[in-house]
Amino acid sequence: MIIANMNTIYPLIAVIGTGAMGRGIAQIAAQAASTVYLFDAQPEAAGRARAAIVAQWETLAAKGRISSEQVAAFSARLLLADNLQSVAACDLVIEAIVERLDVKKNLFAELEQCVRPTATLATNTSSLSVTAIAAGLKHPQRMAGYHFFNPVPVMKVVEVIAGLKTDPAICAQLAAFARQMGHTPVQAADTPGFIVNHAGRGYGTEALRIVGEGVADFATIDRILKDQVGFKLGPFELMDLTALDVSHPVMESIYQQYYEEPRYRPSVITAQRLAGGVVGRKVGEGFYRYVDGKAQVPPEPTAPAVADLPAVWVSPRAARRSELLQLVKDLGARIETGASPSPTALTLVAPLGFDVTTVAVVDRHDPARTVGIDMLIDDAATRRRVLATNPATRADIRDAAHALFSRDGKPVSVIRDSGGFVTQRVVATIVNIAADICQQQICSPKDLETAVTLGLGYPLGPLAMGDRYGPTNVLEVLFNMQTVYGDPRYRPSPWLRRRGALGLSLMHEES
Ligand code: NAI
Repeated sequence: MIIANMNTIYPLIAVIGTGAMGRGIAQIAAQAASTVYLFDAQPEAAGRARAAIVAQWETLAAKGRISSEQVAAFSARLLLADNLQSVAACDLVIEAIVERLDVKKNLFAELEQCVRPTATLATNTSSLSVTAIAAGLKHPQRMAGYHFFNPVPVMKVVEVIAGLKTDPAICAQLAAFARQMGHTPVQAADTPGFIVNHAGRGYGTEALRIVGEGVADFATIDRILKDQVGFKLGPFELMDLTALDVSHPVMESIYQQYYEEPRYRPSVITAQRLAGGVVGRKVGEGFYRYVDGKAQVPPEPTAPAVADLPAVWVSPRAARRSELLQLVKDLGARIETGASPSPTALTLVAPLGFDVTTVAVVDRHDPARTVGIDMLIDDAATRRRVLATNPATRADIRDAAHALFSRDGKPVSVIRDSGGFVTQRVVATIVNIAADICQQQICSPKDLETAVTLGLGYPLGPLAMGDRYGPTNVLEVLFNMQTVYGDPRYRPSPWLRRRGALGLSLMHEES
């Protein structure tokens, strides 16, 4: 006889599939006062899961985070089910089994035979269509996606996904239950990758393109994005942590599901590394090698010593020109103020989206003395500067620029010429994909920001990021990248084009 707790929206629930995700979901549901049945197709698996969850609570109690009474109360709410019939009385069944459409569909068909017609059915699928899983059910309106992130107790966001036939009231209830469990729900349309796995396409894929073009190596790109934008992990560190056997198939799946949309195009680099088993931290080797679990990061090239720095001429078309002039002045360089550079001056350009070579040629500068600097982000807001040479830049000019911009101790990365440097490309791609999510009305702009900050741990939501660095700057990067590469993957989303001039975050309340 089960004593259900009536203070919760779903007093009695079942979690089917008690692996990494099922355990986490069961843990937070029991903490939120639901009685939870655990069921797994593997004999003993549910019992092992229960023991592991109880051990988690005991660890929390040992740290003084919960009381021993709570451990006892939570544990009493975790029950084992021997078969699906045992979950017949449940108000909600959450499925977290293997990620296969046929297996999930069979499970739900079987569940429909057991549970009451009023019971809610939810799937934790990360990449399958909720609509497709619900197709064939007698009551598809009571089935929704409920996509948690790993580890569930720590990642406090859940995507609530309405399939084509889902009753909106079911989603509202699941959202309310998520709040009871201490999680933040976001509402997503049933589209490939939902919100988080869709919005996350920009970071890794653009970084892989940059590596693929030989613009900079893995470690340099990681350093730049951490130091300039404030990402906690560089894209290659992140891929090593997630492991390519997980992340490469996600890249392929979203690309295929969107019928080869160029924005999501995966990379041959990860395909090959996956084939070679070089998948990441868990095997000791990914983009980095791991010794005792620690990444072996190649040392950073030191700034060259240059005795005599040339005078510096800053292009009138440089992005953030007044900040750049002030910076060059603060670093102690002689600044030329003529209409064009003298024959010996270091010519500094700061393009958005365009490559240094194009700027030097179009503006009739001497390419041998022209160096570019990424000024998308105000120098005061970054912990690194990034310079780009063009194929004609002389070594002494490159070294002079490197030495000058290192004078105050801030690290400098010198990369090969590419439209958009590193930060501009990655930021613009992230903002553009986010804008397209808004354009498609996959979720509200507000939920997008919440999902990305909680689900991906970005320092800012992508729309806030676009606002911080200037929506018109981001648009300029994209327009010019499209010209440089002639590639539709950089075409700005209509949402970004329309709102670019107005500001992106201002529109949070409007979808
Ligand atoms: P897992 O492999 O750790 O656990 C799956 C469990 O389901 C296993 O214990 C297995 O014995 C059981 N199972 C398989 N088929 C079953 C069936 N027909 N009936 C009952 N039990 C069955 O997998 P994990 O990582 O927990 O993933 C589960 C689901 O959650 C998948 O749909 C996955 O895509 C999704 N997901 C996974 C995330 C992750 O980071 N691991 C994040 C978000 C969603």
